Amino acid sequence: MITVALSKGRLFDDFIKYLEEKNLDKYSGVLKEKSRTLYTTSGNVRFIFAKGPDVPVYVERSVADIGIVGSDTLEEDAFSYLNVSELPFGQCHFALAGPPNIERFETIASKYINIARKFFNDEQQAVSLIHLNGSVELAPILGLADGIVDIVQTGSTLRDNGLIEYQKILDVQARLIANKQTFYTKEDDIYEFLSEIGVIE
Ligand code: PRP
Repeated sequence: MITVALSKGRLFDDFIKYLEEKNLDKYSGVLKEKSRTLYTTSGNVRFIFAKGPDVPVYVERSVADIGIVGSDTLEEDAFSYLNVSELPFGQCHFALAGPPNIERFETIASKYINIARKFFNDEQQAVSLIHLNGSVELAPILGLADGIVDIVQTGSTLRDNGLIEYQKILDVQARLIANKQTFYTKEDDIYEFLSEIGVIE
């Protein structure tokens, strides 16, 4: 039995679509079942449903053998894992955004404080950073910050809140990671799953 940690939210829906395109109903079927249980099993594979930032924690501590998670999460904090593959979904990017006509950003709100810090350090621009846990678009609307560093996918959240993108920072996409030990000790089962889902030949 192997355990696969999945990020709940957008990436979860994208993964189901990916499985459906590959006619892997044995996996997409169980993942689509609506219930409040936080794990499900199909054959030799147990899926657990976690918050994105917790996926690499489960993988690092070998509670999960494999994780499917956005590169945003992996870039924001340091974890120990094997980087197995990029996945062809979950594409979006980090951007610096704010209301129109900002000439110089002084206070930035972000859920991704480390990525924001690195970006402004690289730009050699001193800003004050405020860490929020979500809905960061509220910060410039309410005057808490004059800009945000956040993920942009379709761009509709920015548009609907009267914000514009000033600069693209970094591409983001789904990645498949594995535990450094069990990737080898459970090699056969892991390879079988990765081959089924088309990650390896
Ligand atoms: C993310 C991100 C933006 C939005 C961008 O938020 O933080 O708010 O999606 O997507 P869009 O460009 O397609 O509109 P998420 O929905 O993950 O929730 P959060 O605000 O709680 O982080």
